Amino acid sequence: MSDAYLLQADGLAAGYGRSQVLFGVSINLPARGAVAILGRNGAGKSTLLKTLFGEIPVMAGSIRFDGVAMEREAAERRVRRGVGYVPQEHGIFAKLTVRENLLLGGVRQPDRSGMDYVLDFFPKLAQRLTQTAGTLSGGERKMLAIGRAVLGRPKLIMLDEPTEGVWVGVIEEIADRLKLLSREMSVILVEQHIELALEVAQHAYVMDRGQIALEGTSLAVKNDPHLMRHLAP
Ligand SMILES: Nc1ncnc2c1ncn2[C@@H]1O[C@H](COP(=O)(O)OP(=O)(O)OP(=O)(O)O)[C@@H](O)[C@H]1O
Ligand SMILES: [Mg+2]
Repeated sequence: MSDAYLLQADGLAAGYGRSQVLFGVSINLPARGAVAILGRNGAGKSTLLKTLFGEIPVMAGSIRFDGVAMEREAAERRVRRGVGYVPQEHGIFAKLTVRENLLLGGVRQPDRSGMDYVLDFFPKLAQRLTQTAGTLSGGERKMLAIGRAVLGRPKLIMLDEPTEGVWVGVIEEIADRLKLLSREMSVILVEQHIELALEVAQHAYVMDRGQIALEGTSLAVKNDPHLMRHLAP
């Protein structure tokens, strides 16, 4: 039963220095499909992803990934196990070209098929390979950041607000790509666009003050009478 999920986080506590932000957060991720994490500003969504990635240490709790206890491992080790992460501030190198930025993602499995796969996925990037990343639009930059994580062929990809600052016309395009991606790997989607997140994901968690306040199928969460109480500013 314990390996029915790709990732099981149980009772996570984490924060910054002495300030605790997460209080007993538990989530389960299947090997395929998307899971949405919703919550108002400051609820702890990004902190949860940072904890799962190993950017900040756990204070308590466990993270089981692909059959191993991962909570004490360094981020670099987690990447090699198949954890991909696109942080909120996406970490694109503006002065490097699109191709160079993508190649930085190939650490786990630096093969040519990975590059073809990504360019197939985001054809817009294929037209801009020699352009510096700083000259891309907001949406293209998000695609580049996602593409870079996908190039490593992760088993799990964690996306922190992939549509933030993206023009509405491109948001649907990104959502479509995420749906496709979630057929092949596990996707965690942190989103402010609630409708979009619940459309892409099959399951959702709503965070409130560092805890999971609501959880269920996307349909159940969407119709939950308490949803807006946890999301309202
Ligand atoms: N580097 C940091 N040092 C100290 N406190 C931090 C740090 N980063 C975040 N926090 C605090 O942790 C809490 C949760 O922040 P977090 O970034 O996880 O929220 P979030 O749900 O991702 O919000 P948003 O929707 O605005 O991105 C907030 O109170 C925030 O001020
Ligand atoms: Mg955040």
